[in-house]
Amino acid sequence: MALRVRIVAVIFILCTISPLLASAYSNVQGKEPTRDANARAEDDFAQETGVKHKNDKPAEEATDVDFPRQGGYAQDENQKNGQDHYEGIENLNPFYNGGGEEQGQEQPALKLVEEPIQEAETPVGLKFNFYQKSCPAAAGIIKKVLQDVSGQDAGIRASLVRLYSHDCFVQGCDASILLDQNPNGEPTEKTAGANGQFIRGTEIIDQMKAEIEKACPGVVSCADILTLATRDALVASGIPNFEIPLGRRDGLTSIKNKAEHDLPIPTDNVNNMIELFKRKGLNEEDLATLIGAHSIGEAHCASFGYRTQNPEKIKEMNPKTPLDINHMCWNNMATLPIDSASHFQMDSLYYKGLMDKTGILESDQMIALDPRTTNYVQQYAQDQNGWHQKFTASLIKMSKIEVLTGNAGQIRKQCRFVN
Ligand code: HEM
Repeated sequence: MALRVRIVAVIFILCTISPLLASAYSNVQGKEPTRDANARAEDDFAQETGVKHKNDKPAEEATDVDFPRQGGYAQDENQKNGQDHYEGIENLNPFYNGGGEEQGQEQPALKLVEEPIQEAETPVGLKFNFYQKSCPAAAGIIKKVLQDVSGQDAGIRASLVRLYSHDCFVQGCDASILLDQNPNGEPTEKTAGANGQFIRGTEIIDQMKAEIEKACPGVVSCADILTLATRDALVASGIPNFEIPLGRRDGLTSIKNKAEHDLPIPTDNVNNMIELFKRKGLNEEDLATLIGAHSIGEAHCASFGYRTQNPEKIKEMNPKTPLDINHMCWNNMATLPIDSASHFQMDSLYYKGLMDKTGILESDQMIALDPRTTNYVQQYAQDQNGWHQKFTASLIKMSKIEVLTGNAGQIRKQCRFVN
C-alpha cells in the first residue's frame, strides 16, 4: 500500500512539476535566454521611439521601410490611406535604397535653373505685430498646443523645425508642404523623397489651425502658424525668445518635383549645399548656422547608416561613431538622436561633436571640415550665445524666402487643402 502511495506521488510530481521545469529550461535555452544589455537598450529605444525591435520581425523583413516614425501621434492621412511616401526616394539618392554613394564617385554639381534671389529686407506686408488686432489669441493657442503635445513627445519640436525648413526651401514659406493634394492632381511636396516618412508634425499644425479658426475664422494663414510653431519649438529648446515677422499667405500649389529639386539630402557635397542655399538667398554662414538645428533632432538610419558600409567613410569618423551606428541601425527606419550628447537642447555641444568628428550626418561633418564653413563651426563650438544670435538671424532670413503677402495666395480654411 505504502509503495503504491509512493508511486502515485512520484507520478503526480512528475506530471505537475516537469512541465514547469521544461518551460523554465526552454527560456534559458530557447528564443529569449538571458537578454543582454544591448537587447535591453534596443527595447528601451523601441519603447521611446515607437520603432519595433528588429527581432520582432522575420530576418528578411528587418530592413523593410515599414516603421513610420509617428511618435504615438495620429498617422498622416496619406500614410493611413496606404500611399507610399517612401516611393521615389531611391531616385533622389541611391543611399536611401541602402546602396550608398559609390566609392570615389563625385556627385555632379547642381545646375542652377533659376536666378538666385537677393536676400531682401523684410518683404512688404510682413510685420511683427501682424495679428495684434485681427487675431490676438493666435500666438497663445499655438504655444499651448505645442506645450501639450511636446509634453508627450519632446521630439516633435525638432520635427516642426524641419517641416518649416522644408516648406521654406520649396516655393517659399507658403505652407505648400502641408497640402495633401493639388487641384490638378499633381503629386505634392509631401510625396518627395526627402519628405515622405522623413517629416512629421502636420497633424499638430492641423490642430493649431482648427483652434485658431474657432477664435478668428479666415484670418491666420497656415504659413504663419507653421512659422510661429517653429519659433516656439526653438525657444522651448533653448534659443532665447525672439519675435518673427508675420503676414505670410498660403500657396495654392505643392509640387513634388520642386521639392526633389530644392531640398538638401545628407549625401549632398558642400558645393551642392551652398548652391541650394544661394538659390534661396542664404549664404555659407547661414548654412553653417542653421544646420545647428540638428542639435535637437533625430535621423533615420536610412540617412546615415550607409557610412559604415564604406571603409573610406569609416576612416573619416571618430572611431566610436561607426560602433554606435552599427549598434543601433538594425533597421533603415530606426532613429538615433543626431546629437546624442544633448538631445533636445539647442546648445553648442553639437558643434563640438562635429569638430570631434562624431557627427552622424555626413553633410554636417563635411560642413565642419570645409574651408568655407569650418570657421563658423569652430566659432559656434566655443560660443553658444553667439551661435544663438546668429541662428535667430538666419532663421528669420529663411522665414522670408519667397513669401506671399498682400492679396497673393489665400488664407486656407484647412491647411491640407486649398479653399
Ligand atoms: C544642407 C542642409 C541640410 C541637410 C543636408 C539636412 C539633412 C537632414 C537629414 C538627413 C535629416 C535626418 C532626416 C531623417 O533621417 O529623418 C535632417 C533632420 C533635421 N533637419 Fe536638416 N538638413 C539640412 C538643413 C536643415 C535646416 C536649414 C534646418 C532648419 C533650420 C534643418 C533642421 C532639421 C531638423 C530639426 C531635423 C530633425 C528632424 C526630426 O527630429 O524630426 N535642417 N536634416
